[in-house]
Amino acid sequence: MSTATASEDLRDLVQSASDSFARATTPADLENAKAQFLGKAGRVTELMKGMAALSVDEKKTRGAAINQAKQAIEAALNARRQALADAELERQLQAEALDVTLPGRARGQGGLHPVSLAWERIEQIFGSMGFDVGDGPEIENDWFNFTALNNPPNHPARSMQDTFYVDMNDDEGHPYCLRTHTSPMQIRYATAHAKRHAAALAAGEIPEVRVIVPGRTYRVDNDATHSPMFHQVEGLWLGENVSFKDLKVTYLNFCKAFFETDDLVLRFRPSYFPFTEPSAEIDIQFQTGPLAGRWLEVSGSGQVHPQVVRNMGLDPERFIGFAFGSGIDRLAMLRYGVNDLRLFFEGDVRFLSQFR
Ligand code: PHE
Repeated sequence: MSTATASEDLRDLVQSASDSFARATTPADLENAKAQFLGKAGRVTELMKGMAALSVDEKKTRGAAINQAKQAIEAALNARRQALADAELERQLQAEALDVTLPGRARGQGGLHPVSLAWERIEQIFGSMGFDVGDGPEIENDWFNFTALNNPPNHPARSMQDTFYVDMNDDEGHPYCLRTHTSPMQIRYATAHAKRHAAALAAGEIPEVRVIVPGRTYRVDNDATHSPMFHQVEGLWLGENVSFKDLKVTYLNFCKAFFETDDLVLRFRPSYFPFTEPSAEIDIQFQTGPLAGRWLEVSGSGQVHPQVVRNMGLDPERFIGFAFGSGIDRLAMLRYGVNDLRLFFEGDVRFLSQFR
């Protein structure tokens, strides 16, 4: 083999290697191409093996030439590797490009549920009238929910409020149920403040109990105006001489603030609750606006029954006053003009977003 032919040979080899590297468009293609030239059975390796038969001198020159060719092939390989990596990086940069001129995406804005809005308003208005805000358990025992409220087992008034019972009794054997109203909090709140009351009495004062308790309540009921879970707010005001007149003024002022109108009248309609005597439903009537002229029932109420005052650990001769229990959902429906209670519990964003 003449030297000229040999080096020509090597030049062709280098050329064909760089051509085949150039044709590789992915790193995997490139590695395959590399194997054909520089791999164990590759063409450069074959050339090396072919030198076995040469003389020592020939080996020297041929070896050096092959080495040069090999280096040239490696250089071509590295250049192509770099070019592919650069192209890949460029592609990624293009794909992930941030267009800083795009308009920003607004953050979804939530809002309070209309019942929560009504609930907050109620706390705020009664708070401004000197009422404390209480909170109590939704799983209540039979004693607080019924018996302590002068509604003993087997009393027919229990059927006014059918509820869900929990398969468990408290330490004294009273069954647990989901509270049917917020009225059990009358007893809980008054007894929780027994020490304060005793201290005031010892100092010759008649203490006051003035509290509202908003919360969730439960009954076996389900239609356009009743749902098995609903919201009530209990009001309780006991003192030396708290009367129906105070109830009327307090409730009327609350309604005027809640509905933001003075064009409102209130009436008491005789009713019955075991825990109040006398008892009354509170109806209101708007004089203007879409609901004008209709009597709307908004609350049960009455003078707290002496037995209930006794169950609070207080002397009914000294503690007189009233209680009321209003439906928060009902108040929210009237305030926001919602005619189906179920809308409050369906979670439809088209409905809810109107209250943002
Ligand atoms: N707890 C009664 C009900 O849910 C309402 C009420 C509360 C009536 C307080 C009188 C006094 O129907």
